[in-house]
Amino acid sequence: MPSYADYLKVNELLELQSPLSEGPEHDEKLFIVIHQVYELWFKQILHEIGHLEELLARNDGSHARATLKRILTILKVLVAQIDILETMTPLEFLSFRDRLEFGSGFQSHQFRELEFALGWKDPKALERYPSGGAVRQRLEHRLKSPALWDFFLHHMAASGVPVPRSELERDVTRRAEPSPALREVLVDVYRSQPALAELCERMVDLDEGIMEWRYRHVKMVQRTIGTRRGTGGSAGADYLLTTLNQPLFPDLWAIRTEF
Ligand code: HEM
Repeated sequence: MPSYADYLKVNELLELQSPLSEGPEHDEKLFIVIHQVYELWFKQILHEIGHLEELLARNDGSHARATLKRILTILKVLVAQIDILETMTPLEFLSFRDRLEFGSGFQSHQFRELEFALGWKDPKALERYPSGGAVRQRLEHRLKSPALWDFFLHHMAASGVPVPRSELERDVTRRAEPSPALREVLVDVYRSQPALAELCERMVDLDEGIMEWRYRHVKMVQRTIGTRRGTGGSAGADYLLTTLNQPLFPDLWAIRTEF
């Protein structure tokens, strides 16, 4: 039987935090650990999304709802972790920030993959990764593949909901566009199909959860570096503010005024 440490590769894991600042600065450890924890959760969410897609494709709504709930629970942990980073003052962060040079969560390829999987399809994100490399190929594949929204629509159709054909055949390399015809159908789902309506609500939870993460992240950025440019090369908080309040599933929000 492998030991706890062997099975979890604990010794290897604990070797992976290498501060670059001299001293090193006390808070750099927190900065590294929290980013690594995020990357592990991104990995797990991507794993769960793969499972969710399979469940929706085989029309297993009950397990799909359970998997969505797990993803949402992880997302809540991701949002809550920002509280920990906010215990770091601007001066504490500035004490090692120059060591990050161009490094930034902006370059997290798992985050971009997650965005693509959820339907936030921005081909410009590909440009940050070398052409022909494994990461770029993975992201190109995700960009071209159906997003969660597409699996959701096909599951609805397979459950007998008259989803407009134009939506089932939409260009999956783009973000979902609002569709009045689809909204009519969704309103009926809410009125007559409780299990499917519950799935819709979990999708809204997911959309809201991602928006909440973006909001908390930009507030944390504003209180830590103000309006400085980001180490990833963007305008910093001003850029991040442009990503707020952009729903992934606009029709699931728009129907709220149509009931
Ligand atoms: C003191 C802590 C942090 C600061 C000051 C900070 C700052 C920033 C800034 C300024 C950007 C804009 C892009 C750029 O760098 O030019 C950015 C983007 C980003 N950061 Fe952070 N960040 C922090 C912590 C984190 C953590 C813990 C994560 C978790 C992985 C993270 C994930 C991201 C992601 C995914 C983006 C891209 C967002 C998008 O393009 O919509 N950040 N961050």
